[in-house]
Amino acid sequence: MIKHKVVLSAVVILAGVGAAQAQMPDPIALRQAAFDMNAGTFGLARTIVANKLDVKPLETGARGMVKWAALIPSMFPKGSDKGDTKALPEVWSDPAGFKKAADEFGAAALKLADAAKAGDADGVAAATKAVGDACGACHKVFRAK
Ligand code: HEC
Repeated sequence: MIKHKVVLSAVVILAGVGAAQAQMPDPIALRQAAFDMNAGTFGLARTIVANKLDVKPLETGARGMVKWAALIPSMFPKGSDKGDTKALPEVWSDPAGFKKAADEFGAAALKLADAAKAGDADGVAAATKAVGDACGACHKVFRAK
């Protein structure tokens, strides 16, 4: 009787785990969508700098970049190296280097957000360049062409 109960609770627990996994979005599709939105904000920053437009509307997107940067390492769970992804094996073999690249990107994005908030066009121009360098530095090592 006791044995029966143990088996039953194990089945219930396993069923719960299965349901939780089924609800998780595909990490590859999720991170690619986020990178695209991020690239959209970055493109907007470049356009605003090139045309000397009002920098203030950049703040929200830049704050989103900061939040995204902090999430990047967790967006590459084990097993998500397989499938429709351009992430290179270095993401998983050098997690410290990958996190450092994400942190540097986050720091540059924070400067962008603060400069945008202050309406500081020169600061936004400098930070936009730093953000672009941070995107490129990570892609060079961790993303396939
Ligand atoms: C810490 C590393 C890192 C940083 C920083 C980073 N990227 Fe990426 N990016 C990647 C990786 C890895 C992929 C590949 C993801 C995949 O295919 O699973 C990627 C993919 C992309 C993609 C393609 C998404 C798709 O739809 O397939 C775009 C666009 C992109 N990044 C733009 C940017 C821009 C713009 C920045 C800076 C504003 C940036 N990335 C910063 C690592 C990074």
